[in-house]
Amino acid sequence: MTAPSTLSQEELKTLVGQAALHYVVPGEIVGVGTGSTVNKFIDALATMKDSIRGAVSSSEASTARLKAMGIAVFDANEVASLSVYIDGADEIDGRGYMVKGGGAALTREKIVAALAERFVCIADESKLVKTLGAFPLPVEVIPMAAAQIARRFAAMGGQATLRRKDGQPLVTDNGQHILDVRGLQITEPLAFESQVNQWPGVVTVGVFAHQKAHVCLLGTAQGVRTLQF
Ligand code: 5RP
Repeated sequence: MTAPSTLSQEELKTLVGQAALHYVVPGEIVGVGTGSTVNKFIDALATMKDSIRGAVSSSEASTARLKAMGIAVFDANEVASLSVYIDGADEIDGRGYMVKGGGAALTREKIVAALAERFVCIADESKLVKTLGAFPLPVEVIPMAAAQIARRFAAMGGQATLRRKDGQPLVTDNGQHILDVRGLQITEPLAFESQVNQWPGVVTVGVFAHQKAHVCLLGTAQGVRTLQF
C-alpha cells in the first residue's frame, strides 16, 4: 500500500514534467501533448529551449504556451518522424493503454503520437488504473453523427453526453464536438479502439491502445516511478 503523499497533485505534476526532460533529445524536435501536466513539462522545457530545434504541438493551448516560452512550433506536416512524444493521460493501465481527451485535444494528440517512435506518458499516480473506463471516455465526433454514436454506446452499456462549455456544445480545435461516455469497462482496449473508430462520424476515440505509452513517469509519494511497457 502506498503511504499518503505529502506532495500535492500539483507538485507531482511538476515532478514528472521535469523528469520528462530526460527523454528530450538535444538537437531534435519534440512532440508535445496537452493538459495541466504537460504545462509543467513545457515550463521545464523552456530551460533547455536553446538545445532543441522546437516542438510539434497537439493543441492551440500548448502551441500558445510553447510560443510564449520562446520555443519554435512546427506544423505536423513539416515533420516525418519524432523520437519522442510527451503527454499526460486521464487513465493509464498496467500495459500502457490509456484514456485521453479530458482536455478535448485527443485527435491532434493521436496524430502527433503517431509520428513518434516513443510515447512518454507523464501522470500523477491517481491516473494508474486496473481497467480503463472509470474516467468518462472522450470521443470527438462530427456533430451531425452525435446522436447515432450515442445510441451505439448505449447498446454497449455506455451513457454518452455532449460536452458543453459556457452553456454551448464545446467546439474542439478541429471544429467538432466531444461526447463523454460513462459506464464502460474497457477490458480489450485494442479491439475497442478499432471498433469505435469505424463508426461513421467518429473522428477519434479517446482510447490510446494502438498509440499506447512506451514509458510512464508516474508521480508517487515516493518520487517518480518509471514504468516500461
Ligand atoms: C488532453 C489530454 C490530457 O493529457 C489529459 O486530459 C490529462 O490532463 P491533465 O494532465 O490536465 O490531468 O488528454 O486532451
